[in-house]
Amino acid sequence: MSMTMQRTLGTCYYPEHWPEEMWKEDASRMSKAGLTWVRIGEFAWSKLEPKPGELDFGWLDRAMDVLQKADLQVVLGTPTATPPRWMLDKHPDMLAVDASGNPRKFGSRRHYCFSHPGYREESKRITKLLAERYGKRVAAWQTDNEYGCHDTVISYSEPARFAFQQWLKEQYGTVKALNKAWGNVFWSMEYDDFSQIELPNLTVTEPNPAHSHAFRRFSSDQVVTFNRIQADEIRLHSSAPISHNYMGRITDFDHFDVGNDLDFATWDSYPLGFLEDRVGASPEQQRAYAKQGDPDFQAFHHDLYRTVGQGRWWVMEQQPGPVNWAPYNPAPLPGMVRLWSWEAFAHGAETVNYFRWRQASFAQEQMHSGLLRPDNQDAPAMAEVIKVAQELKDAPAVEPPFAQVALVFDYKADWAWSVQPHGLDLSYFDLVFSYYKALRRNGLTVDIIAPNHKDFSQYKLTLVPGLIHFPSSLKKELGQLNSLIIYGPRTGARDKDFNITPPLPPSLPNIDVKVSYVESLRPDSPLELSNGGSVIAYTESLEGIAPIFLETKSKKTIAVKENNIIYCGSWLDDDGLDKLMSIACTEAKIPTQHMPEGVRVTQTRAEEFWFNYSQKEVETKYGSISPAGILRHAV
Ligand code: GAL
Repeated sequence: MSMTMQRTLGTCYYPEHWPEEMWKEDASRMSKAGLTWVRIGEFAWSKLEPKPGELDFGWLDRAMDVLQKADLQVVLGTPTATPPRWMLDKHPDMLAVDASGNPRKFGSRRHYCFSHPGYREESKRITKLLAERYGKRVAAWQTDNEYGCHDTVISYSEPARFAFQQWLKEQYGTVKALNKAWGNVFWSMEYDDFSQIELPNLTVTEPNPAHSHAFRRFSSDQVVTFNRIQADEIRLHSSAPISHNYMGRITDFDHFDVGNDLDFATWDSYPLGFLEDRVGASPEQQRAYAKQGDPDFQAFHHDLYRTVGQGRWWVMEQQPGPVNWAPYNPAPLPGMVRLWSWEAFAHGAETVNYFRWRQASFAQEQMHSGLLRPDNQDAPAMAEVIKVAQELKDAPAVEPPFAQVALVFDYKADWAWSVQPHGLDLSYFDLVFSYYKALRRNGLTVDIIAPNHKDFSQYKLTLVPGLIHFPSSLKKELGQLNSLIIYGPRTGARDKDFNITPPLPPSLPNIDVKVSYVESLRPDSPLELSNGGSVIAYTESLEGIAPIFLETKSKKTIAVKENNIIYCGSWLDDDGLDKLMSIACTEAKIPTQHMPEGVRVTQTRAEEFWFNYSQKEVETKYGSISPAGILRHAV
């Protein structure tokens, strides 16, 4: 990332939705508002190719002329999330199939299976045509749109079954080796040939977890390949950087793997929709933050996608007002659109793009706000966007946060937890997020890192919760560290084929501890810790010589510590985690500060930012911050 890169703003625009006469005025209003980027094209396939092979790029040429004349830089999306209707006549078996065996039909979007060879060719073909024509004109690319949106990574189609069998052959070589690795002797599940292996749906009871987990790995690899085909094609004709717009809490494919083929990451941030739909907040939290969003959920993804983008990332779609898709869709508290934008910049974003320019007056998203109302008047967010654009004029250049704490996140672990959770609602994402939230309640800035991370020299504390399959490369890296490491429950609990690792997990370097058995707990049966907080949901019985670090009031060992390693084999509630983090940070000599309710802080090497997500005026050591307020100062 260039240290002199300016923070910028943009919007998502659909010229194909509006009469051509409106484009010029739209472009000039964007530019007057201080926007410098515009993303277009990602759903426009039926307009670009109305009939198979009959191309119409004229309108897109003209739209780009108009936008570029207004000094807007264009991000062009490949339109592969919305194959036109005629595509199905060409490839009737291209639809994804759900777990009950039903095709997911035409009539909305993302109606394709990642494994369909014919559709992969079509996606390559349209990408090539766009890259040849616009490769030298556009400033950046987006592949497809939101892989995984609407649960579309996993498909039980025939093409997926065939591709899965090929994938298994590559992974295991012989069916005998597969039988052994999966433990297929159990329930006489042995196969004689790869061609007998079905996808793991519609079985009488749960399929072999090794089978399910392999299918999750395969499904992720299909997304990676689909994306790579487009990225490779674009690179043949364009040197503009390539991205994809990822989502909040979508873990069905390995974003680090997709990110390795791209130049930067982007993600789509809808804080109010997320709070209602996927944060997992209590009803009280939902009520208290309905108009602001969860104080940690956006930041978590900013920190995650910074790593997915290898340091370079944007918000490609920022919520500007009420959305249409959550159970309830309130309007943001005045000031929140500005706060969300600045929070992204505090976490190192280069650009924040608002979704969308003008609210649609037709089709599915009529109830989704934009920067303009359908009658072309400014919507409430516009004034906040203009304010951010003005503030950016004399703000420092793009700068990543400076973190002394690292938190490992692994997509494969998420699949493993969901394949065999062992307790209702036990989720890896929730576990990692609970660690993140505890760090932030203690005023810390955090890097979320991938399991193949190498350089830990900047970190005084590394957290590894729930990493079920603990790759040997990471084990080696962490085994050499002198700084403090906290391993959380289920770390190292299974090998990559979902078997318990002998002699017993977690087999960690520099600490003598074994998990003798595990239990999941009823929500009404927490175990109280001796000095505050409780164990909830899940607990392990620990043995070994490592000294006790945390225990319950009834003397059950919860965490042990030996050398620089803490192993915590239970799921802790917020109070328990706060306690764990504050003891650990004192030991690691990391200064902490207890944050007021709803207030969060992020540090870069140049600035410190305080954000008030609460609905109350809050006093801080730097003065008071109003609701939705931001406090920014140089460090
Ligand atoms: C995103 C998607 C956009 C739009 C938006 C509405 O998930 O990429 O196309 O549908 O949601 O909030």
